[in-house]
Amino acid sequence: MERNQQRKIINKDEQPIIDLVNVVKEFDGRNVLDDVNMRIQKGEFITLLGPSGSGKTTILRIIGGFEWVTRGEVKFYGKDIKDLSPHKRDVSTIFQDYALFPHLNVENNIKYGLRLKRIPKLGIPKSFQNKLISNKAKWTKIANLEMKKLDKTMAQYQKLINNPKTIEKKREKYQSLVDDMDFKYSYWENYCDLKTEQYEKKYLTRPISNIEMDKEVKDIMKLVGLEGNEKKNVNYLSGGMKQRVALARSLVIEPEILLLDEPLSALDAKIREKMQHFLRDIQQKLKLTFIFVTHDRNEALQLSDRIAVIRDGRVEQFDVPKKLYDYPINKWVANFIGDSNFFDAKFISKGKVQFMNKIFSTIHEEFEPEEKLDALIRPEDIKIVKNKIKAKLIGTITKSTYGGSYYNYKINVKDKTILVETPDKYDVDKEVYLDWELDAIHLMKKDPKENEVIENVNV
Ligand SMILES: Nc1ncnc2c1ncn2[C@@H]1O[C@H](COP(=O)(O)OP(=O)(O)OP(=O)(O)O)[C@@H](O)[C@H]1O
Ligand SMILES: [Mg+2]
Repeated sequence: MERNQQRKIINKDEQPIIDLVNVVKEFDGRNVLDDVNMRIQKGEFITLLGPSGSGKTTILRIIGGFEWVTRGEVKFYGKDIKDLSPHKRDVSTIFQDYALFPHLNVENNIKYGLRLKRIPKLGIPKSFQNKLISNKAKWTKIANLEMKKLDKTMAQYQKLINNPKTIEKKREKYQSLVDDMDFKYSYWENYCDLKTEQYEKKYLTRPISNIEMDKEVKDIMKLVGLEGNEKKNVNYLSGGMKQRVALARSLVIEPEILLLDEPLSALDAKIREKMQHFLRDIQQKLKLTFIFVTHDRNEALQLSDRIAVIRDGRVEQFDVPKKLYDYPINKWVANFIGDSNFFDAKFISKGKVQFMNKIFSTIHEEFEPEEKLDALIRPEDIKIVKNKIKAKLIGTITKSTYGGSYYNYKINVKDKTILVETPDKYDVDKEVYLDWELDAIHLMKKDPKENEVIENVNV
């Protein structure tokens, strides 16, 4: 195993802030995360979107250090931190129920995490800094030696695991030994940082004073719009206010990453929308990395720089919202991200596809002739036109609902229901002619898990 090669620390700025590599998590012998890979850059607003039970919270808990991986790496700026406890990680978490301390008022809830904060002591002789530099070299050397030893042993076991002659029971044993050693490896990777922190605590830093703490709390209260509520009992605050206290408590310790597990799900629609904007503003203002979990596709599409769509413990697709919406990799993602019309399609030749017993032009060229595909056309991409001769499909409106600034129509075309979204009003039972632009058809390979139930699609 060439772990040392892979893990060599390069410049921190070039590294993703979080890099999940082949992460597997087993609960009771069942893989709830199955080879999760996710690379997150500093300053991104990332959303994990997926149905209930797909593994979103587990991914978040693994990044936060509340859950251990069974296998794989959790890299923070290139170093595997899977062995580090939550408080040693530069990460803060907001849970769905806020987890505020009910016996503390607003101010003291926010102060709670600050008690651990330390700041540099003034007037420390330079020799202490120099000693730290020489110590660091020593600690790095020790750690490298240990990692090298582990590399060698792990490589030997890996060889045995890969050997087809190894019996299954032995293979499982070796795998579990390798997994344990990988945790030890993570410890040594962070050894120098941990020792540095201890040294700094002893010689170079001091706890924050009460006056400094009051100032920090005041600043953060202002930032989240909680001024004047310092002494309030948190039990009597509204959901939106509790959310702000939770946010302030997390932000005041200046984490690099904020993990948010469905933080808005308990709020009613209006406050929820306000908090969405607020979260996005704060994230951009402070240039923080947010990893946010939601069931709500609209929330995900509006807030995120990128969305990871999670399905059965795997990252099905990880991309910017527009790409996910316009170019989903399969029917399942398409359905999860927005309202969709799907057609069983067959690729004819470059630029030609067949569905509904007709051949249509498409911008797609990448498939094989006769290949079975799913064709997607979004409801807003289908136009109702006047010209019957030029119409691509002809149907009859069976249902109409008004959705604010547009109408949603269900249109029957040869016993298939097609959804159309348009600002124009038409009557039910009217015959209509449907048309679309060349690039409205998005062709996708068939989903191998096609027949599995699609749950929670329209929540
Ligand atoms: N501590 C645990 N022990 C056993 N199984 C667990 C544990 N935690 C989670 N699981 C299982 O792992 C799977 C993923 O759970 P997880 O909570 O990550 O899903 P989720 O996507 O956050 O779901 P939801 O949207 O309902 O919050 C589920 O099948 C769950 O039952
Ligand atoms: Mg969850």
